[in-house]
Amino acid sequence: MTGSLTIAGLGPGADTLVTHEVEAALADATDLVGYIPYVARVAERPGLTLHPSDNRVELDRARHALEMAVAGRKVVVVSSGDPGVFAMASAVFEAVEDGPEDWCDLDIRVLPGITAMLAAAARAGAPLGHDFCAINLSDNLKPWALIEKRLRLAVEADFAMAFYNPRSKSRPEGFAKTLKVLQESCGDARPVIFARAVSTPEEEIRVVPLTQCQPEMADMRTVVIVGASNTRVIAREGRASIVYTPRSVPA
Ligand SMILES: C[S@@+](CC[C@H](N)C(=O)[O-])C[C@H]1O[C@@H](n2cnc3c(N)ncnc32)[C@H](O)[C@@H]1O
Repeated sequence: MTGSLTIAGLGPGADTLVTHEVEAALADATDLVGYIPYVARVAERPGLTLHPSDNRVELDRARHALEMAVAGRKVVVVSSGDPGVFAMASAVFEAVEDGPEDWCDLDIRVLPGITAMLAAAARAGAPLGHDFCAINLSDNLKPWALIEKRLRLAVEADFAMAFYNPRSKSRPEGFAKTLKVLQESCGDARPVIFARAVSTPEEEIRVVPLTQCQPEMADMRTVVIVGASNTRVIAREGRASIVYTPRSVPA
């Protein structure tokens, strides 16, 4: 029996935002591996063994999935959103590179999903309609100095920015520092979108001028999008405003 390893993105939350390709891979799997709340999003069925694990064991989880695939199982590793965006696909390939040779010969596929910033941007309008960047604000896997350097360079380059993992209970200070850098260096009231739990029943979208942003507006279920200097807001009577970045920047 030949095993396989599929690394699949479940999208931001709603079942309707899971791709058909991912649904087919899940229907064909013998083993499902992932962080506990992501595994819980997949319906149990006979023939499918669930292997949920804690968030901080990405490499162990990847090795476990590879071992099962080499042993002939059809393994699917799930991430939320897209598996290549701050998620399990890189962890699997790190394990492959450092692991035994037969891991390299495995049939490994990465199936894309809708990442949080794109789901959030679509809710608000088109804030990422021109050049943008995405920054993970967690300093669990990189030093804070590097995050701050990239943040300052992104402001200098006038990108719209999407921030993942903005603020956790164990590191509440990082997002406060981020806002301080932005408020000092942008010096304007450009729109900031706080998109929480997008596409789930708890979804909440807020558009706040940068000058009025507070650290408590974000948590770990929030992706934060900061407009570029030319990002616009269309205010609408009795309806949510639209945030968009124009397609062109004048010479
Ligand atoms: C470890 S990252 C994983 C990102 C994921 N792979 C993706 O492509 O969306 C987790 C972060 O993604 C963002 N996120 C994930 N799902 C979200 C959702 N439904 N609404 C808002 N933000 C979300 C939050 O910033 C959260 O802290």
